Amino acid sequence: MGSPVVMGLMKLIVFGVLGLLVFLDVPSFCNGGSTSSFIRKDEKAVDLPLDSDVFRVPPGYNAPQQVHITQGDHVGKGVIISWVTMDEPGSNMVLYWRSKSKQKFQKKGTVTSYKFYNYTSGYIHHCTIKHLEYDTLYFYEVGIGHTPRQFWFRTPPSIGPDVPYTFGLIGDLGQSFDSNWTLSHYESNPNGQTVLFVGDLSYADTYPFHDNVRWDTWGRFVERSAAYQPWIWTAGNHEIDFDPEIGETVPFKPYTHRYHVPYKASESTSPFWYSIKRASAYIIVLASYSAYGKYTPQYFWLESELPKVNRSETPWLIVLMHSPWYNSYNYHYMEGETMRVMYEAWFVKYKVDVVFAGHVHAYERSERVSNIAYNIVNAKCSPVPDESAPVYITIGDGGNLEGLATNMTEPQPHYSAYREASFGHAIFYIKNRTHAYYSWHRNQDGDAVVADSMWFYNRYWNPLNESTKSYS
Ligand SMILES: [Fe+2]
Repeated sequence: MGSPVVMGLMKLIVFGVLGLLVFLDVPSFCNGGSTSSFIRKDEKAVDLPLDSDVFRVPPGYNAPQQVHITQGDHVGKGVIISWVTMDEPGSNMVLYWRSKSKQKFQKKGTVTSYKFYNYTSGYIHHCTIKHLEYDTLYFYEVGIGHTPRQFWFRTPPSIGPDVPYTFGLIGDLGQSFDSNWTLSHYESNPNGQTVLFVGDLSYADTYPFHDNVRWDTWGRFVERSAAYQPWIWTAGNHEIDFDPEIGETVPFKPYTHRYHVPYKASESTSPFWYSIKRASAYIIVLASYSAYGKYTPQYFWLESELPKVNRSETPWLIVLMHSPWYNSYNYHYMEGETMRVMYEAWFVKYKVDVVFAGHVHAYERSERVSNIAYNIVNAKCSPVPDESAPVYITIGDGGNLEGLATNMTEPQPHYSAYREASFGHAIFYIKNRTHAYYSWHRNQDGDAVVADSMWFYNRYWNPLNESTKSYS
């Protein structure tokens, strides 16, 4: 025990130092943004059993299943309708009509199938319908002649700079109990009009011989959303399905047979990179698992694509990719680095508003930073604040069987604004040419609860600093 005088002095010193720490706001001084205090167990999620109700096969002979839609042209007046029949090919006709209209139209699609090891797919139908009217509710029917099933969708409003539109963000979904929670949570959030999906769909490749039955179950699982609103597809590593040991050496075989995208409409030569316009957004989808180095087709395409974006027509420039460039988790750390080196300067030059990626099974949002000053001799190799740079958001938290990424790099880097290892989804609400509101919703909360959010100021029309913290 010390004397009362010494004890008093020690208390003064301790409280003095604590006071100084509070004054300096040391956590945000040493670290970047905030790391959520939510602590979750680092355990694998569990896939839903094959007989789960969400995988239910629709009744009736040769009934169409795994129905899903995506945008079918470059401007949002087209839709690709896809479905699978199991007993026989059946009709590949789509009947469609405007709500309250008696006049029905029809369009013939194509049918394909594939083999993967000892699995043979059902009959996979794709039908592209074009020249629809904007902002119109359409009904459609597939399975004609056997067991017809009806669905509906609403086309987006006409393209324009101040057209409000709302996108949902989902990534790395899989088919676990958590995946079902994420999808239900997204559905109960009434705002999403189109899903921007950032890759890793079914995780069938985690099963022995990449059991493609799990591609079918996944198709039936997401039908309840994907048949009624477009899901914009990005290919992830779990779509590669490449396994020489079982004799399957054609990459992306199940994915490309099952999920079509309108890549030719944006003059792409591959379904793995393409663009669409939708309402007030220009969306560029990139391929983390196709060549992107100089002189590659993707490089040439992106180089000629970015100057085409007319921000007076589509103010919001959004990029989707699978592997994130800015990721402070210890999972897939720096896997996106080589693509960042190739393309980041373009993203800054063309003022991309936001980049959504998946791959890391957690959530993270960055500050606006760039790391393009480095030139191999100048040692400028750290990200710096850059108001022309995108915000990078990792939304690979759909809930697949591989579980959460809970292990983070410490301290939190300056560029990382918020991170949390929870499953969830996000919503990007475009209000007009200057403002968009973004919110992230963790599964554990009610759908109205916002776990992370920010107002986006458009980089072309309103390039103000949105950051809530001072950081230099
Ligand atoms: Fe991935």
